[in-house]
Amino acid sequence: MVDFKQKIAQQISKITNLQEKDIYEYIEVPSDEKMGDFSFPCFKLAKELKKAPQMIAEDLKKNIHFEEQFMQKVEVVNGYLNFYIEPKAYIVNVLKEIDNQKENYGKSDIGNGKVITIDYSSPNIAKPFHIGHLRSTVIGNAIYKIYQFLGYKCVGINHLGDYGTQFGKLIEGYKRWGKEYNIEENPIDELTKIYIRINNLCKEDETVLEECRNNFKKLEEKDTYCLNLWEKFRELSLKEFQRVYDLLQVNFDSWNGEAFYSDKMSEVVEILKEKQLLKPSEGAMVVDLSEKNMPPCIIEKTNGSTTYATRDLAAILYRARTYKFDKSLYVTSYEQILHFKQIFEVAKYLNLDEKYTNNLVHIPFGMIQLKSGKMSTREGNIIKLEDLLNEAISRVSKIMEEKNPNLENKEEIAKKIGIGAIIFNDLYNSRIKDEIFDWDAMLNFNGETGPYMQYIYVRTKSLLEKAGYLPEIKEIDFEKLTDEYSLRVIKKIYNFQDIVLQSAEKYEPYILARYLINLSQSFSSFYNENKIINEDKNLQDARIYLTYAVGIILKIGAELLGIQMPNKM
Ligand code: ARG
Repeated sequence: MVDFKQKIAQQISKITNLQEKDIYEYIEVPSDEKMGDFSFPCFKLAKELKKAPQMIAEDLKKNIHFEEQFMQKVEVVNGYLNFYIEPKAYIVNVLKEIDNQKENYGKSDIGNGKVITIDYSSPNIAKPFHIGHLRSTVIGNAIYKIYQFLGYKCVGINHLGDYGTQFGKLIEGYKRWGKEYNIEENPIDELTKIYIRINNLCKEDETVLEECRNNFKKLEEKDTYCLNLWEKFRELSLKEFQRVYDLLQVNFDSWNGEAFYSDKMSEVVEILKEKQLLKPSEGAMVVDLSEKNMPPCIIEKTNGSTTYATRDLAAILYRARTYKFDKSLYVTSYEQILHFKQIFEVAKYLNLDEKYTNNLVHIPFGMIQLKSGKMSTREGNIIKLEDLLNEAISRVSKIMEEKNPNLENKEEIAKKIGIGAIIFNDLYNSRIKDEIFDWDAMLNFNGETGPYMQYIYVRTKSLLEKAGYLPEIKEIDFEKLTDEYSLRVIKKIYNFQDIVLQSAEKYEPYILARYLINLSQSFSSFYNENKIINEDKNLQDARIYLTYAVGIILKIGAELLGIQMPNKM
C-alpha cells in the first residue's frame, strides 16, 4: 500500500534537508477532516529554520512538488501545511490491500523478531484474583497481541506472587486448623480465611509469629513438609486462576513466579555487596538511592529474608540472559511506580549490558472504581474477578433473551459479548485514568462499548449474507465510493496500521479501542445514508466490498484487544 505520509515526508525532507524520519514522526492525521488528510505542524521546524511557522508553511507550499497523481491539494492554515489526498488514490489502495492481505491487513514485520518480554497479570497465590488484576491481565494481553502483530517476538510472563513470609503464616495456619477448611473445594476463599485467622493470632502471640517465620525459613531450605504444603497451595490457586484465564482467553509463555527466583537472588546480593552498595539501615540491607531522590531499595529485611524487590532484580538478570530481550515491560497499577523506578535504578549496577538496563519499562495503570463506591474493603469482601465475569455473561444473556430469543448458540454468544464488554470497558480510556465500573454503561449496545462494536461487526456479516456474494476486486468501480460517507470509512481503514503502531509505541490499547468505535460509527452512517442493496449493480458491488473490508478490520482490531467477535447476536 502506498504510504502517503512517507511520500509527504520525502518531499518535505528534500526541500528542507531535514531527516525524512523526523518529518515522518511530525506528520499528523488531523482529527478535523476539514484540515486535510495529513497535516504538517511547521512550528516543529521554527527553531531549526529560525523562521515563523506561517512563513515556513508558505515556503514549503511554494516549493513542494509531487510527481504522482495522488495529491489533490496542499493548503496553509495557521502554520500548518495541510495535505489533501485524491479520493481515488485512497480507495484503490485500501481495497487492493484488503484483497491482498485479507485477515492479515495491517500486519507488519517492523518488529523484525525483536524480543519483548511482558510481565502482566501476576496475581498472588492464596489471595483473591481481584478486579485490580483484571486491568493488568487485559492491558498486558492487548499489548502482547499488538506487538506480535507488528512482528515482535513476545514472551508473556505471569510473575506469580508465590513467595514471601506470608507463606510461613499460611503453613502455620494450615498446620493448626487445616482440617476445618475445605481448601480443595474453594481454595482461595478458604486459604484467605486461614490467613486472616493466623494473622490475628500472630498479633496476639509473638511466639506464633516466630513459628511462622520459622516455617518460611524451612520453606527456603526446602523442608519437605513445608514445600509440599506450599506446592499444594500454589497448585490449587492456579487451578482457580485458570478458570479466569479461560474466560478471558489469556495465555502465558512463562509461569515463573517469585519463588522461581529463590535460588537466584544470592547473585544479586553478591554483586551489590562486591560493589559496596549494600548499606545497613535499621537492621536491613539497602541500596541508597538518595542521589536519585528516591527512598532506599530494601534488599534484605531485618530478619535476613529477601524482598519483592530482590526477586524482581533476580528476574531482570534471568530475563536478560534467557530471552535477551530488546524491551522488558511490566504492567501493574500506578501504586508500584516507585518500586519499578527503584529496581530499574539498582539494575544498572548488576553488570548487565546497557541494552538491557535502558529498556526496562513500567506501564502503570489507574484504579477501578465502582460507580456505587469503592471496589474492596480491608475486611476482605473484595469483588472476585470470576464472579464479575460470570455476572457480565448472565446480564448479557438476559438482554439477549429479550432482544433475540431464538438465537442459536446463545450461551457462546453471551460469553463473547459479556467478556468483550468488560475487556473493552477496561481498554477504552488512557490506562492511567481511573476506570469507572458501570454495568449499564459498558453493556449499552448503542454506546461506545464492546457490544456496540460487535453489533456493527455482526451487521457487516448479515449484510454480506443478505447480498449472497462477494464481488471480485477487479469488478469494482472505485468511482462508486467517492461519496462523503464511503470515503470517511475508506480513510479510516487506510489509517489502521498507523493506529496499531501508535498503540504499540505508547503502550496504549485505548488508541485502537477508540479507533474501532470511530470506524463502527462511520460505517453506521455509511449504511444509514447509502442503500447497499441497490438497482445499480456496480454501486452495490462497491458498497458490499466496503462492507466486507470493514468487517475484516473490526475483527482484526477486536482480536488485538483480546475480544472475540460473534457472527450473530
Ligand atoms: N504480584 C504483584 C501484585 O499483585 C504484581 C507483580 C508484578 N510483576 C513484577 N515483576 N513485580 O501486586
